[in-house]
Amino acid sequence: MLEAVKAAGYQPNQLARGLRRDKTNMIAMIIPDITNPFFPAVVRGAEDIAFSNGYRLILCNSDNHHSKELAHLNELRTYVPAGLIVIPSNFGDLAAQAEVYRRAGTGVVCIDRLPTNWNGDTVTTDNENGAYKATRYLIQLGHRTPAAITGPLHFTNARDRLNGFKRAVREATLNIAPEYVQETTFDKRGGYSKAVNLLRLIPRPTAIPAGNDMIALGVLLAIPEAGLRCPKNISLMGFDDLDLDETTNPALSSVSQSG
Ligand code: RIB
Repeated sequence: MLEAVKAAGYQPNQLARGLRRDKTNMIAMIIPDITNPFFPAVVRGAEDIAFSNGYRLILCNSDNHHSKELAHLNELRTYVPAGLIVIPSNFGDLAAQAEVYRRAGTGVVCIDRLPTNWNGDTVTTDNENGAYKATRYLIQLGHRTPAAITGPLHFTNARDRLNGFKRAVREATLNIAPEYVQETTFDKRGGYSKAVNLLRLIPRPTAIPAGNDMIALGVLLAIPEAGLRCPKNISLMGFDDLDLDETTNPALSSVSQSG
């Protein structure tokens, strides 16, 4: 009998199964934007673990818009996922949404950065310490005028990285004026435009720890346009250690999140 079932290529209907058990084998994941090269590896890691435990992953992009995040959260719940992983947009009250999931028996984990008022499960890296070590390293190379380009400061990871920068600067008793810290989006365009501003400052910064690698890639474009060279005139440090860092000229130094 079992052989006949096998030969016919029978697959259990997951919808029917889900209805019976009031839970599917689906893990839902909401991330900001899969085109940011940092996120594919995160998604791949989650999917590998899900797959090896008999679960399947469904992916949604929020574009960091709370309305889109909310639409995903409301709809995904109707699929009765076994779990939900979110990289939050940090707008709106995710804690309340997660509570609705939890009451329905679905675990929720926030990764990469934390929403306001969050007291649930999280997986993040030590952003503060990573940025602190990167900045301290640059200062130890002799740089007395470092400048930071941060990600959006309503994100906890961007704020923590800025705090790490400030700790290293404080420890080295350097005086850094406010305009030596520029906030932007976590992308190349943001990095480029803020680097253009920084490279016009007098005294010109000689080292830039960037909020992430995409920002650093933008800085790498701005440096030669200002008639400067990296690392001869400006040292640069990214955050994420993306594979593509090896392909830039010069190869980009970066803080790895994998420890
Ligand atoms: O959330 C966007 C950024 O935060 C990524 O580029 C990576 O740095 C992550 O931790």
